[in-house]
Amino acid sequence: MNKTAVFPGSFDPLTVGHEALVRRALPLFDKVIIAVGENAEKSSLFSIEMRLKMISKVFEGEERVEVTRFSGLTVEFCRRHNARYILRGLRTAADFEYERAMGHMNWKMAPEIDTVFLLTSTEHTPVNSTIVRDIIKNGGDASMFVPSAINLSDYLGR
Ligand code: PNS
Repeated sequence: MNKTAVFPGSFDPLTVGHEALVRRALPLFDKVIIAVGENAEKSSLFSIEMRLKMISKVFEGEERVEVTRFSGLTVEFCRRHNARYILRGLRTAADFEYERAMGHMNWKMAPEIDTVFLLTSTEHTPVNSTIVRDIIKNGGDASMFVPSAINLSDYLGR
């Protein structure tokens, strides 16, 4: 059976933590689909096109990683792609409460789909996209928090 996991998220931007998580998930699944959520209500720093481009660059040459956008429910996206697993990372206890609620509700809606959580590695625990965006907005250098394949200045015009 083909084991496909969907890694849904905003990825605004993709961080070193996200990248490491996908690389650690690859031995566990046949395919990982990174699904960038289109959320009209959430204003983003990077456009969806930029995020798709950045992520595709990071996983260029990795045939088992697919990068795509999605709208609507994550579980419906999983069903359309025959994915039985949702992949999410856990950094802290605060993450856990949010992820637990989402995982349980997704499971209620789609009991055939399991959420698989991987603990982020210790060095990536403090890294999150919200803080990375804040550093960028305030003119700081956030390059150490995003994968080396992403050159932020290509997207920020500075
Ligand atoms: O990176 P994020 O912002 O924490 O990702 C959140 C995301 C995209 C996984 C979540 O908002 C989501 O699944 N959105 C799709 C709509 C949906 O399925 N909502 C119900 C989840 S219980």
